[in-house]
Amino acid sequence: MKRVKYTIANWKMNGGKDSIKLVKLLARHIKKTGHIKSKVIICPPYTLLSDFIRLEKKMIYGAQDCHYQDKGAYTGSISAQMIKSIGCKYVIIGHSERREYQKESSNELRLKIQAAVNNNMRVIYCIGEKLSEIKNRMQVLKKQISTLNNNLDINNIIIAYEPIWAIGSGKTPKIIEINSIHKNIRTLLSKKFGVRKSNKISILYGGSVNSLNASDILKLEHVDGALVGGASLNYRDFSKIIDSYL
Ligand code: 13P
Repeated sequence: MKRVKYTIANWKMNGGKDSIKLVKLLARHIKKTGHIKSKVIICPPYTLLSDFIRLEKKMIYGAQDCHYQDKGAYTGSISAQMIKSIGCKYVIIGHSERREYQKESSNELRLKIQAAVNNNMRVIYCIGEKLSEIKNRMQVLKKQISTLNNNLDINNIIIAYEPIWAIGSGKTPKIIEINSIHKNIRTLLSKKFGVRKSNKISILYGGSVNSLNASDILKLEHVDGALVGGASLNYRDFSKIIDSYL
């Protein structure tokens, strides 16, 4: 089954007024190479998003979070509707850093996913186990997947499997293990949505992806791309990761 491949840059709380240079370099690289095998999406902080959309139209962008209400008295929050209105089509939801630091609950995540999909946005839904949960990994992932409503339009859903202990640590599961975990995630999705629908869902790997390990990870049968943190902030590293599909 041929699925859409994605290389997604999660800039987290990084980037400033000069960062458009990096975006332009990447856009030029993609155009010049002309044989990019994945959709490349940049998810910068909100403060940069509308400038980027205006200044480099060839790139695709995503936000790192959204609120579940369209508008209202929610100081400091930004809605899916607002993000969509500036021309941004993707949003990361459920990243482990937000689950931890913003104490985002499954219920809140369910509402956010619904709000994003209602606004016709594509959701990059993050799941992953803590170090202490490795033995119960599939139960943890099953529970996180259960946050997705059964009647959700899965055409708008991308799954990013990010083992929490692999994020920013330089560690990853063994390469063959990544493949089997992704295979098992697809089995969970098939049980929930049926085989035909679930086969369309791209499952990305995230957690210490870099220019050295990317080609081994991205050639795995059950891996449909990468969600990249630290290495996405560096032109050389990220462009190498983009080229690793070749
Ligand atoms: P690193 O690539 O820095 O490990 O971060 C992964 C991540 O959290 C992407 O969402």
